[in-house]
Amino acid sequence: MIRILTLETTCDETAAAVVTDRLEVLGAVVASQDELHVRFGGVVPEIASRAHVERILPVIHQTLEKAGVSLQDLDAIAVANRPGLAGSLLVGLMAAKTLCLVHDLPLIAIDHLQAHIYACQIASGKNVFPCIGLIVSGGHSNLYRCESPLDFTPLGGTIDDAAGEAFDKVASMLGLAYPGGPAIQKAAKQGDPKKYKLPRPLLNDRSRLALSFSGLKTAVRYELFGTGRPAMGEEANLDSQVVADMAASFQQAVIDCLVNKAALAIRQNGYHRLCVGGGVAANTPFRKAIQQQANTDGFELFIPPLALCTDNAVMGAIAIERYHAELFETLDLDITPGLVR
Ligand code: KG4
Ligand code: ZN
Repeated sequence: MIRILTLETTCDETAAAVVTDRLEVLGAVVASQDELHVRFGGVVPEIASRAHVERILPVIHQTLEKAGVSLQDLDAIAVANRPGLAGSLLVGLMAAKTLCLVHDLPLIAIDHLQAHIYACQIASGKNVFPCIGLIVSGGHSNLYRCESPLDFTPLGGTIDDAAGEAFDKVASMLGLAYPGGPAIQKAAKQGDPKKYKLPRPLLNDRSRLALSFSGLKTAVRYELFGTGRPAMGEEANLDSQVVADMAASFQQAVIDCLVNKAALAIRQNGYHRLCVGGGVAANTPFRKAIQQQANTDGFELFIPPLALCTDNAVMGAIAIERYHAELFETLDLDITPGLVR
């Protein structure tokens, strides 16, 4: 049996897992940093990287303990080295390299976005390839053609903000807590999604698989506070029904854009499977809407349970595929913070 320790420190979760070539998860730990960033309304990169430094070793120890294995039992160490926050990525990479050097283990590089798609394979226990991949997270909103776990081609994505980032910023405008996605979902339950007529940017542009959420964010601001500069703390005075209605209207606009472009990617490429990953895929109304679209259009939908949608190291099991293909790295492996296109 092959056992790989996977590390994930791309943003603000410090996570590790031990996975096997049978795609079993022997142990997994996620240490979230939400409590450190909540008062800033978003992730502060420097705080994130410092917290990773403090947490990475305890997280690895706990994971190995849960898995009942020692470092000597491992066959490789894998680490997400792209894309993400530079300082955060470096902590995971240095930890992985050090363990590889000391224990003479091969090093495997993980693309965090590909890992989000691979979460569908782990969760379903089925082969999900070839598929169209949709990543909707705090940092990315992208579509891919995924021929195999080792062959991803970018098809398009957001030209400005990520969907999750828009959730977080709109939540902050509405006086809701970080992370904004779950807070908006909760507030929206009491709201009317048709109350505010918000734009669906690029929805009718069938020529390209592009998304855009920056203008939608601005539309929410204008609707709430007019075109002037909002006074400090103005969001604190919003009526709770206004908050609920805006949360519902905004959430619906994002869902419409994502569902529409994912369905278009499936049609344009003649694929029959859609795999969705990333934190926004945890959104219940989005999950319902994309399932409905799958039923209507007749494609198969794979969407992991909530804990495998948000950042985790279990999805790093994509490293098993690289292990079999003998795609190992040397110790001069670097981070790639930006998207690799
Ligand atoms: O994938 P993820 O955990 O981290 C990144 O790689 O970015 O995604 C985090 C993002 C945040 O923007 C958060 O607000 C959003 O996912 N999110 C949600 C929900 N849960 C998390 N967005 C909408 N609805 C949710 N239930
Ligand atoms: Zn992520």
